[in-house]
Amino acid sequence: MKILVIGSGGREHTLCWKLKAGKGVEKIFCAPGNAGIAKDAECVSIPVDDLDALAKFAEKSCIDLTVVGPEVPLCAGIADLFRERGLAVFGPDKSGAELEGSKAFSKEFMKKYGIATAKSATFTSKNDAYAYIRANIVGKPGIVVKADGLAAGKGVIVAANEEEALRGVDQCFSGDFGKAGESVLIEELLIGEEASILALTDGITILPLASSQDHKRIGEGDTGLNTGGMGAYSPAPVVTEALFAEIKENVLDRFLDGVKAEKMDFRGIIYAGIMVTKDGPKVLEFNVRFGDPETQAVLMRLESDLADVMLKTATKSLSEVELQWSSEPAVCVVMAAGGYPGAYNKGDIIEGLDEAAATGAVVFHAGTAMKDGKIVTCGGRVLGITAKGANIAEAAASAYNAVGKISWSGANYRKDIAYRAL
Ligand code: AMP
Ligand code: GLY
Repeated sequence: MKILVIGSGGREHTLCWKLKAGKGVEKIFCAPGNAGIAKDAECVSIPVDDLDALAKFAEKSCIDLTVVGPEVPLCAGIADLFRERGLAVFGPDKSGAELEGSKAFSKEFMKKYGIATAKSATFTSKNDAYAYIRANIVGKPGIVVKADGLAAGKGVIVAANEEEALRGVDQCFSGDFGKAGESVLIEELLIGEEASILALTDGITILPLASSQDHKRIGEGDTGLNTGGMGAYSPAPVVTEALFAEIKENVLDRFLDGVKAEKMDFRGIIYAGIMVTKDGPKVLEFNVRFGDPETQAVLMRLESDLADVMLKTATKSLSEVELQWSSEPAVCVVMAAGGYPGAYNKGDIIEGLDEAAATGAVVFHAGTAMKDGKIVTCGGRVLGITAKGANIAEAAASAYNAVGKISWSGANYRKDIAYRAL
């Protein structure tokens, strides 16, 4: 089987690494990939949003399965285009991708199919948004302002008071998040612990993956600015067996009912960001792709043949799949460029990659590139160092041991990944 993976982050490196171990896998291409992916796949320099070039490449190279990593091509309709051309693809169609592409659409979907979520209202006028905030923040610990559209992990302002919330609205309407902020959601602040539940679906069957939790804030103790994710671990102890069953029934099964009723062609991953509140689990957001860095921790524990699982998902045979998991937890620590999630440097030489790999941890690359024969930084999140262990503490110790071998000027990482589980 020849596989094309689309994307260039740590998630895509993990996908290539895991797919490569598949029994029938002959060759993996990755568009556009990165310096680490180049060790596991042949990188092809086509951008993720050049759908036509990607489809032509898949046709010309006789690709048997295309796996779409990021949300942008999914929201642009890559799965529709590939299927029209008779190409097997892992990813939802454009109508399904709208669950991530528009938070307002996603909210309506949740309401319609009885999926618990934060109360919210959507606005296209600044004054109406202001008035709603003023009326709804009284006596509350805060309120959340969200740009409706795709904002690359930005676009969510968790405001502690009225002033911060109004400023968030200003940011949206002044174009800080581009077109994504032309419509704005104001949402009830949910209190609790977060977990990520990812599930495979082919539109007929839904199959949850192992639970995980990521660390979105830049600073230790979950402080500071939101990032794409500074580390993750799997499983998340907050997701007990009983809670997992509740999420399956009240979130995932209802999601699948909605997919069927709305006639979405959903063959891929649904990612439910969950807040475990005192009133039970509530959905913070849906994503229509693997999480990054959740994927690194989750797939390190998967013992099944991912290529076979993804092909069966793409060809509507997911009912034949039973997933096997390692009982050992896994921890992924993200190393980022200094300054991230603000402005950061690029082009710094990364030292110690071989020494880190020799410890047995796996070094997944995100923002890396090859320059004059050396691997250099070229993004905010640079590496995701991932390890398994007999328990979370040992997995974290192994990951941090490998992290300690790696250095570049300004490298930054959180020292407390998985602390909530320890
Ligand atoms: P989202 O992209 O919608 O998942 O939001 C990013 C992050 O903002 C989430 O992972 C939460 O930490 C936080 N967040 C979003 N919505 C809420 C909410 N209603 N209450 C509390 N925190 C939230
Ligand atoms: N780690 C959060 C996300 O992938 O959206």
